[in-house]
Amino acid sequence: MDRYNELVEIINKAIYEYYILDEPTITDQEYDDYYNELQRFEKKNPTLIREDSPTLRVGGEAIDKFEKVEHIKPMLSFDDIFNEDEIIAFDERIKKVIPNPKYTLEPKMDGLSGSLIYENGLLVRAATRGDGTVGENITMNVKTIKSVPLKLTKPIDIEVRGEIYMSKASFQKANEEREKNHENLFANPRNAAAGSVRQLDSKITAKRNLDFMAYFIPNPEDYGIKTQSESLAYLKELGFKTNYKLNSTASSVSDIIKYIEDLAKKRKDLPFAIDGVVLKVDSLSDEEILGFTSRVPRWGIAYKFPALEVLTDLQEIKFTIGRTGKVTPNAIFSPVHVDGSLVRKATLHNEDYCLEKDIRVGDVIAIRKAGDVIPEVVEVKMERRKENSVPFKMIETCPMCGNNLTKVDANHYCLNELCPARHIESLIHFVSRNAMYIEGLGDRIIEDFYNMGYLKEVKDLYYLKNYKEELMTLEGFGEKSITNILDNIESSKNNSLERLLFGLGIRHIGRKKAIILASKYKNIDNLINASFDELKNLNEIGEIIATSVTDYFSNQDNRDNIEELKSLGINMDYLGGEVDNSNEFISGKTFVITGTLSKSRDYYKELLESLGANVTGKVTKKTDYVLLGENPGSKYDKAKEMGIKIISEAELNENID
Ligand code: IVH
Repeated sequence: MDRYNELVEIINKAIYEYYILDEPTITDQEYDDYYNELQRFEKKNPTLIREDSPTLRVGGEAIDKFEKVEHIKPMLSFDDIFNEDEIIAFDERIKKVIPNPKYTLEPKMDGLSGSLIYENGLLVRAATRGDGTVGENITMNVKTIKSVPLKLTKPIDIEVRGEIYMSKASFQKANEEREKNHENLFANPRNAAAGSVRQLDSKITAKRNLDFMAYFIPNPEDYGIKTQSESLAYLKELGFKTNYKLNSTASSVSDIIKYIEDLAKKRKDLPFAIDGVVLKVDSLSDEEILGFTSRVPRWGIAYKFPALEVLTDLQEIKFTIGRTGKVTPNAIFSPVHVDGSLVRKATLHNEDYCLEKDIRVGDVIAIRKAGDVIPEVVEVKMERRKENSVPFKMIETCPMCGNNLTKVDANHYCLNELCPARHIESLIHFVSRNAMYIEGLGDRIIEDFYNMGYLKEVKDLYYLKNYKEELMTLEGFGEKSITNILDNIESSKNNSLERLLFGLGIRHIGRKKAIILASKYKNIDNLINASFDELKNLNEIGEIIATSVTDYFSNQDNRDNIEELKSLGINMDYLGGEVDNSNEFISGKTFVITGTLSKSRDYYKELLESLGANVTGKVTKKTDYVLLGENPGSKYDKAKEMGIKIISEAELNENID
């Protein structure tokens, strides 16, 4: 019996050293010898098998279904954030309540969360998160995970939460195995872990080599713990695997950003997949003060790394008709987060593009998006193509009006002037954020109002109020939403001229050119009367735009339309502050603002723009100055690295004065 106890201790220690410390002290051969000896003993003495015997890790009888179990405390997760501004906002929110917060920073493990319950130091129950309130009992499966201690170093009752995950190495091995057996491959380690831990046959789970990283104690006060850092240290002391080499703390946004950047660099060399950084307020009494929203804790947040390229499945290729009648195929795929935003479609440009990529509905595709760049389909994963996939075929008639399409160069057009799609697109453009910015009128509503006959052209928007009672009775609308839409339409009448100019959809007049023209001519009549030569010679305008503007205004229909809009009360004057280019320090320069300033960023943006500067969001070679506030983010580091001039608020104001 002494020998048996000794063997259990030796083997458990070996497992701990190998799977948790990653520092084995005995050889594989020695391990096998001890293990075999232990097995022989247990076979002879099945009643003496200890509850923490390593032989229990091989899995047991398969079950029919998972038993549902209720969590003692709900298993919540954090809200996700995706960029520096959101980190600043989080920190500001916390600071409203806790003036000098300290945060713990932990890698965000990319697996699935699990809850482990120990009684008297022994693992008695393991559960999945489920819906947060009720999970599934996966005790048998979790016992097979070598980095889950079956017995803690202290005989205590405790619940421990952490991430069940599959290492990159085990993931690769599992997929090699599956490939050999002609089974579908796991898409990523997270799916592999989720699939493996929910096996009804725990012997299968055992073979998958899962791992567990502990990061949370729901009842820390029971153990005299006062901070999250102490929780992590306590978990390590109890024999759990923690990320003690990577976890850290920070007290400023710049330190948080630095941590994120450092971790992002290490990411690809880590033995496991991570998808971000979890920030938690360290002090548990501070956490208590912050409390919870109806869904999530206020004291923590999950920053997700920008996924520059992610895989998704192509559900549909949908053709859209633009304002000019141009037909564009679009990839519609399962929504995915790419570099900070949720995307569900990407342009496929034209027929040639689709044929070249040989893209087919049902394909697994890689999507990329970086910064402000429009999402694009980088690649079709040919190795994952389904057998019965159908090659792409360009449509021949307009899906909206049935007109035959005309091919001009690489693009197809619906040249039917009356095609509803073209009108709908013009309306959508008119109300869009950079144009008249009429909130509440989403694409779908415009389409519906168009189809119901309320809207045909832009001017109809301003007659909608005559149908208020009727609109209110439409399905999905009520007095509140219709009043709101009509109010927004009314207030759009007061917009400055450049919004209208952009909204009219004059060819080649983007937002910037609209501002140039509006600020130069002050009202629409002056612009209408401007000669081609005059326009052509304007800074940043040139011949193409001058032609487009004069063509547009020489068309009688367009002139009539403008007169009607005028009579409806739409402002046709430029209301923006004049751009004053007299300050040489600022005029024509490109600024980036980072950190918290004494006035809002918008204030400085407007101020700088009114002095002829360009204000952008990214530090690049073109940046002349970075305006530095408190707790700056990575833009500051980047500016330093690139040797870009950094100025303070005071210095800026001095120059302005
Ligand atoms: S703490 C109240 N710490 O990411 C939230 N979660 O929203 C307690 N995760 O669903 C979780 N690494 O599955 C925590 N170091 C970490 C984590 C982590 C990964 C997962 C967890 C949770 C989500 C966070």
